[in-house]
Amino acid sequence: MAKNFSLPRGATDILPQDIPLWIHIEKTARQILNLYGYQEIRTPLFEETELFARSMGQTSDVVQKQMLTLQPSKSPENEKAESAHYALRPEGTASVVRSYIENHLDKKESLSKLFYIGPMFRGERPQKGRLRQFHQIGVEAIGPGTASPYLDAEVIACSMYLLKSLGVSGAQLKINTLGTYANKEEFKNILRGKLSGKLSELCWDCQNRFERNVLRILDCKVPACKMAVQKLKLNYEWLDAESKTYFDTMKKILSGLNVIYKEDPYLVRGLDYYTHTVFEISDSSLGSQDAVGAGGRYNNLITELGGPQVDAIGFALGIERIILAQQGKIQVPQPSLDIFVIAMEEKFIKNAFALVQQIRHNGLSADASYEGSSMKSQMRQANKRNARYVMILGEDEIKANEVALKNMQNGDQEKVSLNLINETIQKLK
Ligand code: HAM
Repeated sequence: MAKNFSLPRGATDILPQDIPLWIHIEKTARQILNLYGYQEIRTPLFEETELFARSMGQTSDVVQKQMLTLQPSKSPENEKAESAHYALRPEGTASVVRSYIENHLDKKESLSKLFYIGPMFRGERPQKGRLRQFHQIGVEAIGPGTASPYLDAEVIACSMYLLKSLGVSGAQLKINTLGTYANKEEFKNILRGKLSGKLSELCWDCQNRFERNVLRILDCKVPACKMAVQKLKLNYEWLDAESKTYFDTMKKILSGLNVIYKEDPYLVRGLDYYTHTVFEISDSSLGSQDAVGAGGRYNNLITELGGPQVDAIGFALGIERIILAQQGKIQVPQPSLDIFVIAMEEKFIKNAFALVQQIRHNGLSADASYEGSSMKSQMRQANKRNARYVMILGEDEIKANEVALKNMQNGDQEKVSLNLINETIQKLK
């Protein structure tokens, strides 16, 4: 018996009835991001595995546990290929930065405002809102000397405006600062100091994180770790004065934009590249996977990947989580067909066939059924396709070189000469 194949775990089929919603989301995002001055960039779906390890951090959960690496099949062609190992992209930032460096975008414009919309891949344990193939709308604003509290506030406000425009109006924004790279290292040392006597209270994962990724202990979901973390008195003693002023100014600008936020000193983000401003947007309707988007500044990443000293900030929103969180608020009509052509007898199918081509080439959508089914069944098909009009070709019409044109909204019917069909089609537009 033939094997039945099923969907890979953690992936989804986006079926035709869902496509209008996806197109609406992508179109709205493109429009809004253009208003904010962003231009689209498309990078490959796979990159060298090391690019992700070097950017997101060797010890980050994504790199440690979730990379989907590619194993090329053995062939002389592949043996000749370079020995690089590739992985499906788990996020967009690393690829955009790689492309920014490789294409010398710093020489072309002072601030590159780039956005992307597309699939990302993480080998996570699938659950509601957590997939192995998911989609992000992401932005990256990259340019030498462009770090400014205004830009940070604008990027955060843009992410909130996008979400609101996509029907997610009740999302909560949390912000924090990690300060400079040196501040962050100091923060890690202070945390290790505060936690060293409490290691036995922490979960096994956090005990491992203590040495290699101590910041992650701050957002562990295990109740015992949460309790231990809540007892820590975090008061930004590791932050230098300049970074503190930067963050304070950014918060004032954000308030001036009427963006409501909560300051959360425990917000550290799971990816290594962040410095200074970080933020996360959550929606309580999403359950345990409640982050609908997140981002932050990453002023050191470009140099770490071999590029010049360039400042950068960005964010990414998860499209599947937006769809869950908007809870049916976005109502997108199913597309309708302009004209369904009906051949009343099998011998007129060839006329219907020619007519649908002619309609399409005149700019209206058209379809016909080539099965020779009854008039009733073809009308049913026209209704199912949401057709605005039907054109009927029967014995009388063919003899008179005409077509019967029926308006499906009001039921009006008239005869139209086939000699004037192009003009008629223009009128129906
Ligand atoms: P992230 O927090 O890893 O950040 O992901 C951003 C968003 O992608 C999440 O808030 C969530 O909505 C969605 N997401 C992540 N993983 C999954 C998953 N397994 N299933 C469904 N949705 C998911 C980044 O990716 C950074 N690159 C953001 C950024 C851009 N920072 C600076 N620039």
